[in-house]
Amino acid sequence: MAEATVSPLKHFVLAKKTITAIFDQLLDYVSEGATFVEATYKNPELERVATEDELQKIQAYKNKLAVIGEVLSRRHMKVAFFGRTSSGKSSVINAMLWDKVLPSGIGHTTNCFLSVEGTDGDKAYLMTEGSDEKKSVKTVNQLAHALHMDKDLKAGCLVHVFWPKSKCALLRDDLVLVDSPGTDVTTELDSWIDKFCLDADVFVLVANSESTLMNTEKHFFHKVNERLSKPNIFILNNRWDASASEPEYMEDVRRQHMERCLTFLVDELKVIDPVEARNRIFFVSAKEVLSARRQKAQGMPEGGGALAEGFQTRFQEFQHFEQIFEECISQSAVKTKFEQHTIRAKQIIDTVKNIMDAINVAAAEKRVHSMEEREDQKDRLDFVRNQLNILTEDTKEKIKRVTEEVENKVSSAMTDEICRLSLLVDEFYSDFHPSPQVLKLYKTELNKHIEDGLGKNLADRCSSEVNQSMHQSQQEMIENLKPLLPSGAQSQLHLLIPCRKFDLSYDLNCHSLCADFQEDIMFHFSLGWTSLVNRFLGPKQAQRVLLGLADPNLQIPRPLATTPSAASLPAVTPENVSHDDFMVPLVMSLASLTSRTSMSIIVVGGVIWRTVGWKLISVSLSMYGLLYLYERLTWTTKAKERAFKQQFVNYATEKLQMIVSLTSANCSHQVQQLALNQPRVTLMVSICSASRVGTGEFCAASPGSSALWKRNLRAFLNCSIFFVCLFPKCISTCLCKVMSG
Ligand code: GTP
Ligand code: MG
Repeated sequence: MAEATVSPLKHFVLAKKTITAIFDQLLDYVSEGATFVEATYKNPELERVATEDELQKIQAYKNKLAVIGEVLSRRHMKVAFFGRTSSGKSSVINAMLWDKVLPSGIGHTTNCFLSVEGTDGDKAYLMTEGSDEKKSVKTVNQLAHALHMDKDLKAGCLVHVFWPKSKCALLRDDLVLVDSPGTDVTTELDSWIDKFCLDADVFVLVANSESTLMNTEKHFFHKVNERLSKPNIFILNNRWDASASEPEYMEDVRRQHMERCLTFLVDELKVIDPVEARNRIFFVSAKEVLSARRQKAQGMPEGGGALAEGFQTRFQEFQHFEQIFEECISQSAVKTKFEQHTIRAKQIIDTVKNIMDAINVAAAEKRVHSMEEREDQKDRLDFVRNQLNILTEDTKEKIKRVTEEVENKVSSAMTDEICRLSLLVDEFYSDFHPSPQVLKLYKTELNKHIEDGLGKNLADRCSSEVNQSMHQSQQEMIENLKPLLPSGAQSQLHLLIPCRKFDLSYDLNCHSLCADFQEDIMFHFSLGWTSLVNRFLGPKQAQRVLLGLADPNLQIPRPLATTPSAASLPAVTPENVSHDDFMVPLVMSLASLTSRTSMSIIVVGGVIWRTVGWKLISVSLSMYGLLYLYERLTWTTKAKERAFKQQFVNYATEKLQMIVSLTSANCSHQVQQLALNQPRVTLMVSICSASRVGTGEFCAASPGSSALWKRNLRAFLNCSIFFVCLFPKCISTCLCKVMSG
């Protein structure tokens, strides 16, 4: 039953498989391309690399290719059989299918279009137009009955007959055979052509060789020829077995039919050249071929039965027809069914290629541009780094200058204030009494008064100048920094710099400074022995002399508060003070006294004694006594307070002079700390992270992520600059990190 050689129809099957695979591959590429273009288009960093138009185009092509792929998978070869009623159309189809698939018989048998195609199942069924119902048919009679019983079926209707591929080799190769009612039974040829002929690859005109070609048949094919460009038309002169009964006329009749058919195809329809046309005209007997093939299928000899003379010739001619037909339909279908799609696919590929090329070019340009921009930014970064280094050194100098200025200013202001300390002490008013409790309270309040007063005076003299100096330095730093900033950041720079006044803390701490102060508010007669010794020898020597002479073994205590400078001296003991230390000035003083004063007194006293005598002495003594009395009486609490204040001024002056350099150093330190004690940790983190993105990521960034490194660089510059403005002392450390970062 099956053909020994490979069917030419396989050519179409193979072509379909190949082109479907190619379209699948193409669809994958275009889908991938569409995804890429979409991602590129939506990527904000790849601005203008892919356009919306390109995206829409490639997405449209993707959909188009999917549709084409779908259409291709449903493509098949189609052959349509036309002819007059009872010419044997259904018989020819049955003969080709090796079985009585379609009903045939005398009279008007086929009353609608029948499309025979293969099904993978093992049961035949039919489907009518507009219905999904699969009507099962087992025999041809059932099919004929079903078709006749269906009153709705008209000549222009189509019924799909699905025949198991397993029963028929021809149906395995995507071939669809369309049977039609006789062209002589309808007036709706145009609608037939529209509906059934436009996608047909081959037309077979089944003519009745017992008569001649009729105008009805010719008319139909003329119409087909008008609608289609050079349709493939075969003419089967069927019922040729009838010629066997009149063998003497057979050749004449054949020649006559051949000429008419050639004239029809070549001259009238002009669908084929004369040489080729002879291979499109066959003289066959479908009835005999079907009968023979059915017998063969049943295992009987195919030439058996009551067959007319010349059967083998007609049989071979039918086979020859099948061979030529298969070659023709296969080649034609490959061309008509796939050629347009192939051309379309080429166009799509060209357009997609152009889109990709355009994107590639745009990306390359973008890359070049980004690299140039990156180089510029790197140069700028280097420049900014260098400028920052210079600025750092400059800022360090400024800080040094400002701190020195502050130190000098505070030092001189404090020296002035110490000179005016007595005024400050005089301004102090509080209850004074020699009792220890009151004195203690008095001292505490006096200390506070001094501390507040001095602090206020120092602040008045220094703070505004220090602030002004710092503000000026800050402004200079900002001005130096501005050129390094992007223009947008320049206007915002002042927002980043905190503008607040800075108050120096002088921290004099008078209370502990004067804690050792010991007042001496005992009465001392100005012409008394102690006072005189004091006057002649000075307070220190007098102390030693007075105490040393009184008790040589006694340890000499620290000098009184009236001699505060002695407070720092080590304790003086007889051991560490040599005898000469006492005696030399004493002897010198006494010698001086005896040599000058005493001699004068003795000389003068002798002269006076002679002239005035004891009266003068008594007057002098009286005067001395009166003076003592006067001084004793005027030694009031007020006088004691004055003495106290004077002693305190002397003591505090000396103490404060000792801390002038300390306090001024402390103030300059505070100014320095202002630059350093800001939220340094936060900024260190910021500058380090900025340096990381500013240098590490910046250098590694691909041109594609230009926006990222631009942003980072800006952050780095802003952060660095902010840092420089506020915390210049940290710069050197941080810049080291930035550079190494
Ligand atoms: P409609 O469907 O009615 O248009 O007819 P048809 O063209 O399909 O013809 P069909 O195949 O039904 O055949 C009509 C009659 O002709 C049937 O009785 C067939 O047996 C007979 N017939 C078909 N082919 C041949 C043939 O080659 N020789 C002879 N002698 N009879 C044939
Ligand atoms: Mg028929």
